[in-house]
Amino acid sequence: MSDATPRRVRACRATDLVHGQMVVVPLTRVRDYIPREALVTRDDSGRIVAYRNECKHLPIPIDGMTRKFFDKEGTHLLCALHGARYRVNDGQCISGPCRGASLEAVALEFDGDEVFVIDELVNGAAGPT
Ligand code: FES
Repeated sequence: MSDATPRRVRACRATDLVHGQMVVVPLTRVRDYIPREALVTRDDSGRIVAYRNECKHLPIPIDGMTRKFFDKEGTHLLCALHGARYRVNDGQCISGPCRGASLEAVALEFDGDEVFVIDELVNGAAGPT
């Protein structure tokens, strides 16, 4: 019998995370050849948010593994392949081929100053990256 408790993965210290910064947190992989990651950042109001690093147009990392996540203005998340732009505050795509769709939100937990993402995938996975 498997343990169905979601895994809590440390992301960063909240006080170290500044606006415009991105913290990439490896999550449990489903397929060995595609990374599964959470992106943790701050929105314009300063709230910490987290999304899966997976475009809603095609199931690939939005940065195409360039580790560049924002558009040139630094105001939206940008998919490197076809240019979909996502709002930081709610993950919704505002332009590009998947307009109207939203990045998958990743749950966060806070323990004092420590920020954790909740990796909901615990069954049938290949193991942590
Ligand atoms: S794969 Fe992201 S916009 Fe096409």
